Amino acid sequence: ALRELPLLANEAGRPGLFKATLTAGSATARFAEGLDTPILAYNGTSPGPLIEAVEGDRVEITFANRIANEASTIHWHGMPVPADQDGNPMDQVATGTDRTYSFDLPEGSAGSYWYHPHPHGKTAEQVYRGLAGVFVVKPKADPIPAAYGDTVLVFTDLRLAADGTLPDNTMTDLMNGRVGDHVLVNGQKNPTLAVPFGAKRRFRLYNATNARFLRLSFDGAAMTIIGTDGGLLEAPVAAGDILLSPAERLELVVSFDKPGAAALATLDYDRGWMGPGRPADAGLTLLTVNVSETPTGPVPPLPDRLRPIAQLGAPAVSRRFVFTETMAMNAGGMEMGFLINGAAFDMQRIDVVAKAGQVELWEIVNEADMDHPFHVHGTQFQVVEHERGGTMSKPAYRAWKDTVNVARGETVRLLLRQDRPGPRMYHCHILEHEQLGMMGVVDVQ
Ligand code: C2O
Ligand code: CU
Ligand code: CU
Repeated sequence: ALRELPLLANEAGRPGLFKATLTAGSATARFAEGLDTPILAYNGTSPGPLIEAVEGDRVEITFANRIANEASTIHWHGMPVPADQDGNPMDQVATGTDRTYSFDLPEGSAGSYWYHPHPHGKTAEQVYRGLAGVFVVKPKADPIPAAYGDTVLVFTDLRLAADGTLPDNTMTDLMNGRVGDHVLVNGQKNPTLAVPFGAKRRFRLYNATNARFLRLSFDGAAMTIIGTDGGLLEAPVAAGDILLSPAERLELVVSFDKPGAAALATLDYDRGWMGPGRPADAGLTLLTVNVSETPTGPVPPLPDRLRPIAQLGAPAVSRRFVFTETMAMNAGGMEMGFLINGAAFDMQRIDVVAKAGQVELWEIVNEADMDHPFHVHGTQFQVVEHERGGTMSKPAYRAWKDTVNVARGETVRLLLRQDRPGPRMYHCHILEHEQLGMMGVVDVQ
């Protein structure tokens, strides 16, 4: 049966404060019969423990880095935290040391966030070795009926060597991002879930893989999108299939109106692949739901309106970010570059200066041969337009997001406002591309 993520216990002992410790270190997992796999874990578990806090809470989480010989950080992906509490690449926590991250969760910040390491040069590896967890911020009053439950589904991507170890990244992994051989849900392959006929269930889907694009359908059940990275939509939207690029999240309500088996399965999606070995990505069953013959009792309806989302106002500035890939032959062999506006990431360099509280229009232009999911720290943005081959399209709904796929040859325009000062990263969330330089710094002043 589907494993529920262990909940991170709140040690505060009073409402309004979430206080806990996350210890990162070595652990062992059993993915295959008789084989122990050395992994990294938070509090001994991978995916990490589920953090559940409420809007308005203060959060104080102590990070104990017990990873042998490696610095790390905890980055609060998508969350409105101060820059110096956001686990930036330059704010490393040395091996054997601790630090406490403190921040407040503002009203209106309810959403599906996550946490993962961000030490420069090591992020991709620490994540695929097991360090990633879910951080759900609940609203004070939830419009979604409690009878639907609230089930987190975290997708990770496992590659196992014959001896049970996790192999290092190859050249192909560095180019395309590491795509594993088995997609896991909450750490398990194709787990099952039992629901009564007629039931509705709420799911939070997380693409926590380094580089796998997940185009999904729910055969035998009906999906309705109710939320994105930064929380609920204005109104539910029926969906046939969905695309979750690396780091994206979606909240769904799924209606199980037919007895029998329903399956959450992958469909083909061509995200651009360099070189041989494009992994087969269609036809994988990620989750099997057994819908009983016995009908459920009365099911409360999904409300037509979920919450208002005000459109970000007219931008004061507009900026352009161009993604390119370069290849050069040199004495050391083939060298790849993953660049934004012609430059690779430099921790010492500020790429853009922005004014706190000011709305900006960001144009993300993908001139490369692969899709690149664009992510920015510290805020949520609104996508306003996609342009590809001269054709413009608007998103199907207004939403708060922190990651958006920019397909090859595509331009995505988004509105964004940073409210807190300090350096913020923006990058491709194919973590091997981020490592190889597809990242920049916006300094908010
Ligand atoms: Cu989830 Cu800078 O990333
Ligand atoms: Cu982030
Ligand atoms: Cu990329």
